[in-house]
Amino acid sequence: MVTNRTFTMIKPDAVEKGHIGAILEKITASGFRIVAMKLTQMTASDAKTFYAIHKERPFFGELVEYMTRGPIVAAILEKDNAVEDFRTLIGATNPAEAAEGTIRKLFAASIGENAVHGSDSNENAAIEGAFHFSGREMF
Ligand code: RTP
Ligand code: MG
Repeated sequence: MVTNRTFTMIKPDAVEKGHIGAILEKITASGFRIVAMKLTQMTASDAKTFYAIHKERPFFGELVEYMTRGPIVAAILEKDNAVEDFRTLIGATNPAEAAEGTIRKLFAASIGENAVHGSDSNENAAIEGAFHFSGREMF
């Protein structure tokens, strides 16, 4: 299994605010190579499958509404130690607790609308990347 890749989404709030370019600049300046990338929109079915781990949580309905309300940028990223380093780059789930200079500190509004997703394990990075991309879309 490839273990030097992670999966990200620039979420609808950040796309709406025009932050795609600034976020991609932070990502590439931090040493990540873009393996695959597209502007797309998740259906409710997509979002429920993608975030199935949270289906019993009280915020699940809001999360599905949020993630489907507009386009996202989905991407696979490559770097040594990609999963952990990308989670460091994006910062805590709640932007109020995110470290200075992190993507969520800079661009996220709230714990619910927090600008970016980052895979939490090598296993999930592979599952999430395959959810959005076929092999021929990965470079
Ligand atoms: P993500 O999966 O999107 O990278 O975020 P994460 O690991 O930092 O956080 P996670 O616990 O996996 O939560 C997934 C997403 O659900 C929304 N959320 N809302 N209202 C709330 O209390 C709440 N908690 C989580 C956020 O969009 C979060 O990123
Ligand atoms: Mg998560």
